[in-house]
Amino acid sequence: MINWEELKHIHVIRKLEEILAQWFNTDIFFVDERGVIQNFDADRKSKEYKSPLSAAFLGREKARNHLFDFLKQASEKSFENDRVRNIVKGPAGIENVLISKITDENEILGAVIAYSYVDKEASSDSKSKLKAHLEELGLDGEQFESALSRLNVISEAQRKYFFELVDLVAQEIVTFHTEISKRDEKINDLNSQLGNRYSYHSMIGKSKAMQELYSLLDKIKISESTVLIQGENGTGKELIAKAIHFNSPRKDAQFVTVNCSAFNENLLDSELFGHVRGAFTGAIRDRKGVFETADAGTLFLDEVGDMPPAMQVKLLRVLQEGTLTPVGGTQQIKVNVRVLAATNKDLKEMVEEGTFREDLYYRINVISLVVPALRERKEDIPLLVEHFLSKGTREKNLSEKSFAKRTMEKFFDYQWPGNIRELENEVERLIVLSGPEQRIDSELLSPRIRDWADKSKLAGVKTTGKLRDMIEELEKTLIREGLRRTNWNKSKLAKDLGISRAGLIMKVEKYNLDKRKFARNKAGEAA
Ligand SMILES: Nc1ncnc2c1ncn2[C@@H]1O[C@H](COP(=O)(O)OP(=O)(O)OP(=O)(O)O)[C@@H](O)[C@H]1O
Ligand SMILES: [Mg+2]
Repeated sequence: MINWEELKHIHVIRKLEEILAQWFNTDIFFVDERGVIQNFDADRKSKEYKSPLSAAFLGREKARNHLFDFLKQASEKSFENDRVRNIVKGPAGIENVLISKITDENEILGAVIAYSYVDKEASSDSKSKLKAHLEELGLDGEQFESALSRLNVISEAQRKYFFELVDLVAQEIVTFHTEISKRDEKINDLNSQLGNRYSYHSMIGKSKAMQELYSLLDKIKISESTVLIQGENGTGKELIAKAIHFNSPRKDAQFVTVNCSAFNENLLDSELFGHVRGAFTGAIRDRKGVFETADAGTLFLDEVGDMPPAMQVKLLRVLQEGTLTPVGGTQQIKVNVRVLAATNKDLKEMVEEGTFREDLYYRINVISLVVPALRERKEDIPLLVEHFLSKGTREKNLSEKSFAKRTMEKFFDYQWPGNIRELENEVERLIVLSGPEQRIDSELLSPRIRDWADKSKLAGVKTTGKLRDMIEELEKTLIREGLRRTNWNKSKLAKDLGISRAGLIMKVEKYNLDKRKFARNKAGEAA
């Protein structure tokens, strides 16, 4: 079954709809395999319909039913024959209806209906016959007569483009339908693979990746070893460091975080090792450094990849010797700290480049934890958004809220470069923006998330200008998108587009979409 709700939001389909309206004054309807008419903008006002005839029919309840019953029967009839494209006379008896079947490997999923156009001007004789016929049905004959005279005549030369565009809508629906089904299957699949642990300390997640992380954390919590936590921004590195500390025998002593990127070189020694009174101007009393504060506890070196070289040297010394001397002091102090470090940089690469000390790297990287990016464990998204949603509404004293299905789907489609932090902020934002609404609609999503899937699609296609130019541009965009989607598999794409492989190659050349050139152009754009 086609997920019409979802398809409604596919940019390419909307764009085609727009082009058909703009150029041919036709409206597009959809019908599913059971014969139910789908109308993407059910609450559209009748004057917003492009074809004067649809506007006339849809303006009134009775006429509307008349039109929809007709389209339903016509499409059912077309499902029974073998033709992909059927053209029938419409309910007014003069206009044409084009029905293009949506089929997926011999299975009929539905049809795209373009309503309506005429081949030539209707004679006044047939107009008055129609008027009488419609008045018999209790409809406003005047209105229909005037609508008929404004109906678009599609010339023979243009008809080919028109047919192709309507067929293209049907093909695009098949393509997206397949992609959507695959995604849904994947979600189901992933859900069934999940383990049974939903959280660890304050970390949430039940994906396989998180289960593995939890069992690793279980093993290392009692160890005294240094742990290096690596992962992209916002993946929860700090949360993991805290989980390690608060599950360890050191939990009653301090957890001290040092942000290595924010370190002031001048105050470095004093911050790390503390100072004694009178060590320098302004040192009016003894002050403990972070090592002493964390004594018997855990020192968390955040953003360790940004540690200035001077600090790297000093840190290494303390880690090796277990002792330090406060600034201005004479006595060595023994400290007992467990060090955890985190970074979103590739430390190994930094070592190779000479920007991070190799000896320090090995000292820190005794146990290595890599936190998976959110896009690699999308199956955790429902649990996470539920968590952030109920936390957010509770904190704000709001009644319970939920996400619309479409909003959840968008959460799944998006790639989350900012990982959990980005997701958390988005949920927070939605709670605020939804105001008193209980259900959070996808329209409220940040544009980058809402428009993610369609972003690169037909965004730039013009709908004005010469028809041929516009169609060429549309063709170019479709091929470019298709090449990306199929990973430059031209045979597959040619099949998808219903053209020969040689034909596709010619078009790829014509539009300059060759893979190498494409990569070069992109690089050029970026520069
Ligand atoms: N598994 C999780 N469950 C619930 N909340 C999480 C989880 N992981 C991260 N968060 C939340 O996401 C936010 C970012 O997490 P955190 O600060 O630990 O990430 P980070 O990896 O240190 O990020 P950065 O690299 O930007 O410093 C925090 O608000 C944290 O509470
Ligand atoms: Mg952090």
